[in-house]
Amino acid sequence: MKEDYRGVTALVTGASKGLGRAYALELARRGARVILLARSEGDLRKLAAELREQHGGPEAEVITGDLADPDGPERILRELHDRGLTVDLLLNNAGAGSVGPFLGRPIEPQLRSVGLNVSGLLALTHAIGAELVARGSGGIINVSSTAAFQPMPYQASYAGTKAFVLSFTEALAEELRGTGVHVMAAHPGAIATGFFDGTSATIDAKAADTPATVAADTLDDYARRRSVSYPGRAVNRALTWSARLLPRPVTARLAGSFNRRLRLHETVDVGQ
Ligand SMILES: NC(=O)c1ccc[n+]([C@@H]2O[C@H](COP(=O)([O-])OP(=O)(O)OC[C@H]3O[C@@H](n4cnc5c(N)ncnc54)[C@H](OP(=O)(O)O)[C@@H]3O)[C@@H](O)[C@H]2O)c1
Repeated sequence: MKEDYRGVTALVTGASKGLGRAYALELARRGARVILLARSEGDLRKLAAELREQHGGPEAEVITGDLADPDGPERILRELHDRGLTVDLLLNNAGAGSVGPFLGRPIEPQLRSVGLNVSGLLALTHAIGAELVARGSGGIINVSSTAAFQPMPYQASYAGTKAFVLSFTEALAEELRGTGVHVMAAHPGAIATGFFDGTSATIDAKAADTPATVAADTLDDYARRRSVSYPGRAVNRALTWSARLLPRPVTARLAGSFNRRLRLHETVDVGQ
C-alpha cells in the first residue's frame, strides 16, 4: 500500500455512498484532506464526522451539489473558490446509469446520467485541470468502468458514457504529459454497491469486488503514477483485452447474452 497522500487535498465526487465513500475513507486513512461532494448532505456530514473520529485533524469539507444540473458544476466550483479550497487531486467518481432495454426505459434518467457521467466530469476537469497545470502538480482520476471497452446491450447509454470517459481520459493524459499533472482512468468491474438500487437488477456480491478493495487498488495505482488502473480482481482486466481483440458486433452479442443471463433485459423499477 502506498501511503503518500499526506499534504494532498482531494475532491471526491459521489462521496455519500458506494465507491466514493470508500475513496474518501481510504484517502483520509492515507493522510489526505478530503472534500466530500454529492447531493445527500446528511450522508456527507455523517461521513465527515466519521473521518474526524477515525483520523482527527480538520473536519472534511462537505459540498452539496448536483453535477447533472447544467449549472451544477459552476456552483460547486464557486463554492470551492469562496471557501478558499485548492484541490490537488480531483477524483471524478460520481456516476449513474440506466439499466434495462434502451427503448423500454424512460429517457429522463438516461439524459441525467449523461449529464453526470459526461458533462459534470468534463466541467470539473476543465476548471480544476487548468488550476493544476498552472501549479504544475497534482492530478485527476476519472472513474470509468470495464463497461467502457465494449457495447453493453441493456446498459447501452451507461456503457456509452463510460467509453467516453475512457477515450477522453486517455487523450487528456497525453495532452498533459510533461506538465506535472498526472491523469489516470480507473476501470473497475462489478462492485458491491447500491448502483442498481431502485430497479429489479442486482449486483451479485460474490462476483463483485468490495468498494474498499477497489478504492485501495486505485489509489495505489495513482501513487505509482500509472496511466490506467484496473482495480479489483484480475479477470476484469483480462476481459477488457478479449473485448479489444474480438470484432465489435461479436463483443456486443456476447455482452448482450451475458446481461440477458443477469435478466437485465427484464429490468423494472421497484420501490426502495
Ligand atoms: N457499482 C459497480 O458495479 C461499478 C462498476 C464499475 C464502475 N462503477 C463506477 O463507479 C462510480 C461509483 O459508483 P457506485 O457503484 O459507488 O454508485 P452509487 O453507490 O450509486 O453511488 C453514486 C454516487 O454518486 C453520487 N451522485 C449520483 N448522482 C449525482 C449527481 N447528480 N450529482 C452529484 N453526485 C451524484 C451519489 O450521491 P447522491 O445520491 O447523494 O448525490 C453517490 O455518492 C460510478 O462512476 C460508476 O459508474 C461502478
